[in-house]
Amino acid sequence: MKILITKDYEEMSRKGALLISQTIKDNPCAVLGLATGSTAIGTYAELVKMYKNGEISFKNVKTVNLDEYIGLGEESTQSYVTFMRENLFNLVDADLKNTHLPNGTSDNAEEECKRYSSLLCGLPRDIQLLGLGSNGHIGFNEPLTSFNSKTHVVELAESTVKDNSRLFANAEDVPRRAITMGISEIMAAKRILMLVSGANKAKAVYNTVKGQISENCPASILQRHDDAVLVLDEAAASLL
Ligand code: GLP
Repeated sequence: MKILITKDYEEMSRKGALLISQTIKDNPCAVLGLATGSTAIGTYAELVKMYKNGEISFKNVKTVNLDEYIGLGEESTQSYVTFMRENLFNLVDADLKNTHLPNGTSDNAEEECKRYSSLLCGLPRDIQLLGLGSNGHIGFNEPLTSFNSKTHVVELAESTVKDNSRLFANAEDVPRRAITMGISEIMAAKRILMLVSGANKAKAVYNTVKGQISENCPASILQRHDDAVLVLDEAAASLL
């Protein structure tokens, strides 16, 4: 793994955006694997600036996202599809037809997982952006998820529901289930870019980088990826 330590959230975001923009410059038809969460917001804001300065275009870019809550869709302010539109897709020249997330409002979640898995096979990713859960999760792959997993339905860990409740009016409003890209599908991306900020993630960063490769810490599998880049701020890197 290549580890880059930056001063703070802003510098981490600029570095993350630079690496993603480089992928788009190298291949204007690139397939980007994208992530939601507070960590990614600054990176998307930097990408929007680059687009407005005429440095990059999303016109021919395709995107696939990691995950979505079951039960939430376009009409929900908390859904990941809304997050992506508000923080990136609606602010650049992306063609919404080329942007993909699991459909959290599908009548049949298991069928939706199969559809998404086969979509991923046809869209090999040039780069996959990842955040890190405080329990080491990637996407919504919670501890003990098989490293061989494909897109599947997950029951969220209590700690994840608690972490994510800050974005909802009440903790009871946080959906308990989600659809997530599987770990084997995350690992299939040519390059992985993980961004981590804040002292509350320092233990998970330590387990990811220095811990045993174990399903107890899903992100530890990144040690086996040929081109994984971790961009950390000083607080997140404080236990390394
Ligand atoms: C969430 C998402 C992940 C995200 C991670 C970190 O639960 N499912 O895709 O990367 O946890 O989120 P945050 O950046 O808000 O800390």
